[in-house]
Amino acid sequence: MKIGVFDSGLGGLVITKAFINAMPEYNYFYYGDSAHLPYGDKTSGRILNYTLDAMRYMIANDCKIIIIACNTATSIALRYIQQRFIPSSAPDIKVLGVVIPTVEVAVENNPQKVGVIATSATIRSHIYRAEMHKIVPNLDIEEIAAPELVPAIENNDFATAQEFVREYSRSFTSCDSLILGCTHYPLLKNMFREALPKVRIISQDELMADKLKNYLSRHSEIEHKLGRQGARCFKVSSLNNHSQKVASNLFADIPLVKA
Ligand code: DGL
Repeated sequence: MKIGVFDSGLGGLVITKAFINAMPEYNYFYYGDSAHLPYGDKTSGRILNYTLDAMRYMIANDCKIIIIACNTATSIALRYIQQRFIPSSAPDIKVLGVVIPTVEVAVENNPQKVGVIATSATIRSHIYRAEMHKIVPNLDIEEIAAPELVPAIENNDFATAQEFVREYSRSFTSCDSLILGCTHYPLLKNMFREALPKVRIISQDELMADKLKNYLSRHSEIEHKLGRQGARCFKVSSLNNHSQKVASNLFADIPLVKA
């Protein structure tokens, strides 16, 4: 069986790359719901339904463990999936998100103030604030939605993205750490680091592989079910030349195909 990685689009390939670099032996199945991208400006009901459809599809494709790399889907749908969908529909499958591992890293150094930048839906859910306050109740948290960043990255317009990064960064100068709470933002991490040299920038591509490795080492019942042929299958719900180009920049030898 496979390790599944889900995202609303192609951003999750960056985390997939980190997984494959750290654990190349496993078989991976990537699914990006690019037909419905972006999730970040959709209602919670639509995000939940799209994510549930994706889970069904990935489970039907032999995923034993699924990592929801999409922060928006994690924020809105993960709790329902873990508490309702999986127990009734696929009790042998494990589904994990990106929020808790990121929060664990964010609170590591006893910060006084942590910033979160993410899509509108993720910020609206206040999931990062709620999870950090469970661990550090008095932590000062600055949450800001950045609806312009995903479209700029999708259009390959990094000049516009840089302008927005500079503008948003002004809100985080008094933070010890800043969580980049969106699959697309690892592509902007150097811009954030340049704009906020004194702030610890937390980028999920740098933490998720360690977290998954650690999880698998503690859950042999899952790890033993994973195939080790190094197979890769990358699928999206909508395919065009642009998405093929983006994917081939990250994985030159693995074709992106339509689901
Ligand atoms: N994958 C989404 C996230 O991480 C960003 C793109 C979208 O809005 O769908 O929040």
